[in-house]
Amino acid sequence: MNRKVSKAIFPVAGLGTRFLPATKSVPKEIMTLVDRPLIQYAIDEARAAGIEDFIFVTSRGKSALEDYFDLAPDLEASLEKAGKTELLEVLRNTNMDSGTIAYLRQHKALGLGHAVSCASKLIGDEAFAVILTDDVIAGEKPCLQQMIEAYQETGGAMVATMEVSPEQTSSYGVLDIADQNGPIVKAKGMVEKPAAGTAPSNLAVIGRYILTPQVLANLETVGRGAGGEIQLTDAIAEEIRAGRDVFGYRFDGQRYDCGSKAGFLQATVAFALARDELRDEFAEFLTQMHAVQQAAQ
Ligand code: UTP
Repeated sequence: MNRKVSKAIFPVAGLGTRFLPATKSVPKEIMTLVDRPLIQYAIDEARAAGIEDFIFVTSRGKSALEDYFDLAPDLEASLEKAGKTELLEVLRNTNMDSGTIAYLRQHKALGLGHAVSCASKLIGDEAFAVILTDDVIAGEKPCLQQMIEAYQETGGAMVATMEVSPEQTSSYGVLDIADQNGPIVKAKGMVEKPAAGTAPSNLAVIGRYILTPQVLANLETVGRGAGGEIQLTDAIAEEIRAGRDVFGYRFDGQRYDCGSKAGFLQATVAFALARDELRDEFAEFLTQMHAVQQAAQ
């Protein structure tokens, strides 16, 4: 059976209201952790996992995102002339080959499921990945690569999953667990944003998926779900109802919810401390800040 995963959908058409007013003119995905936009982390993870075709589902006001992936010949020429070879290398690593990126528009923000379904005509009959750029995952082996390796064994549909506290389950899609085998969790149900106290487990779905074309077909019929939006979770849960396999994958790595301010700030600190050229100065600053705060209490 062909279990190649070579296409990834990046739904980036959301309004990003939690970062207003910044997102009035800057797409959330262009906001930077240290010096790299969120979208670059997502692209690097996808490339490392063997993805060859990158499909962006965008919306009005996101042209900065398309510009980001254009070549910058003038900038490259001036860096070359100035002998700034390291920076040139950094810049060139962001280049994408012509024909590997497609941009589609979601005209109305009708939900994540709807955004994914906008790309269905480009998918064909192979399984594909979905990456939410809000979820930045640091770890030795990129999360999507871990999942694609596991998927070679399991087939079916697969979602990245992690434990959250019971108070947080109502913000996520949550798995109803049938069975567990190491990091692989077989699901017998899935519910999007369960009301407080009703979650079937504390295993939350986060923004990495490997899905089959059948999930796209399900999206055509699921209708609106939680929050009045067309939910990807509902289309995946439909697979379980139809008797097909859906797995959760407990990935190895630290996930930052960069769609929230607190998560974005935590990621900024973690990624800055991971950089050799920043670590000492930044750690000293954080220690001082901590001391000032303790003294003020
Ligand atoms: P979020 O739920 O984080 O929504 O979407 P958002 O609009 O990006 O941000 P807030 O909540 O207003 O601050 C999760 C992911 O789904 C995409 C978003 O771009 C994000 O990557 N999405 C969401 C779409 O592409 N289209 C939609 O209609 C909704």
